Amino acid sequence: MPRTDPAALSALLPWFAAHRRPLPWRQDYRPYHVWISEIMLQQTQMDRAVDYFLRWTGRLPDVAAVAAAREDEVLRLWEGLGYYSRARNLRAAARVMMERHGGRVPDSRDALLALPGVGRYTAAAVLSIAYGHDEPLVDANVARVFCRLFDLDAPAGEAATRRELWRLAGELLPPGRARDHNQALMELGALVCTPRGPRCDACPLAPACEARRLDIAAHRPVPGRKKDITPLTLATGVLTHRGRVFVQKRAPGDVWGGLWEFPGGGVEPGETPAQAVVREYMEETGFCVRVTAPLTVIRHGYTRFRVTLNCFALALDGEPPPPVLTEAVQWRWASPGELEGLAFPAGHRKLLDWLAARELLPGLAARA
Ligand code: ADE
Repeated sequence: MPRTDPAALSALLPWFAAHRRPLPWRQDYRPYHVWISEIMLQQTQMDRAVDYFLRWTGRLPDVAAVAAAREDEVLRLWEGLGYYSRARNLRAAARVMMERHGGRVPDSRDALLALPGVGRYTAAAVLSIAYGHDEPLVDANVARVFCRLFDLDAPAGEAATRRELWRLAGELLPPGRARDHNQALMELGALVCTPRGPRCDACPLAPACEARRLDIAAHRPVPGRKKDITPLTLATGVLTHRGRVFVQKRAPGDVWGGLWEFPGGGVEPGETPAQAVVREYMEETGFCVRVTAPLTVIRHGYTRFRVTLNCFALALDGEPPPPVLTEAVQWRWASPGELEGLAFPAGHRKLLDWLAARELLPGLAARA
């Protein structure tokens, strides 16, 4: 299609009207709901985001509630979504909204960009979707749609391509229709113009699509450099004493800042996982623990890591002394019931689920 002919996109809005998913924040586009949904949707699949959104807004119905919530509570509501700085930033941003914006999500670009966790994309999404302002946006879905529509032959992540994508988004935006237009492009990328196996036969933009005309949709966008996946072998252990479990809270400032965990860490060369967990407990708490049994091996991925987490049951001889924390800022001997209210990184929560399913920690409820 000629590069910037908005008429070529005329089938997009009718397609969206017919195919849009009934997402909870699309009922009335309350700015608070749009903001929360957009932060959740970064790095998260739609189905998961909807579940978390409903749980979050059920507990924290407005900006004031987020600002007043304890960090522990927002992290617990976020547990499992990863990238926990998003949850900490939501709380920090809500506090700014209370102080400077009367408890409202601001409707100016500068005010939005000044909030923790809000960048160019999120500001544009809130302005267009919540407030109907004529603001273009580009996310990964829109980038893929445009790379195919215009046959852009450089990786979408490159700076020059990104500039071109934002320019195109601006030129193609129909005045007064930004709310539906932006969502329609994202929805098209999510439902039809998918990364693999795009359904060109169902696409309202197919007649205008350059990659389809050339039969190269499968090769657009041009792949960027693959991020290397790093394997990590870790060891951790559940130390119980008189029916309680030792947990510690990570220091603010790291990826899991504010989350609770069982002590542990990397297995070093020449060391067995069981030796590693004993050493890690000594280094992180000063406890001289003993491995009483291997429990399970949990495999999971986060960011660019593939983790193998070796898990053990641990005991201490005699009464536990107060720990000397080197990696954490708080500790407690938690009852199994208390563990359910604390936010853990995904691997540790999987370990708790594994223990609960086998009734190995009486009082810890199995999750559905
Ligand atoms: N449809 C698909 N992704 C979306 C998003 N991030 N915001 C609004 N609508 C969408």
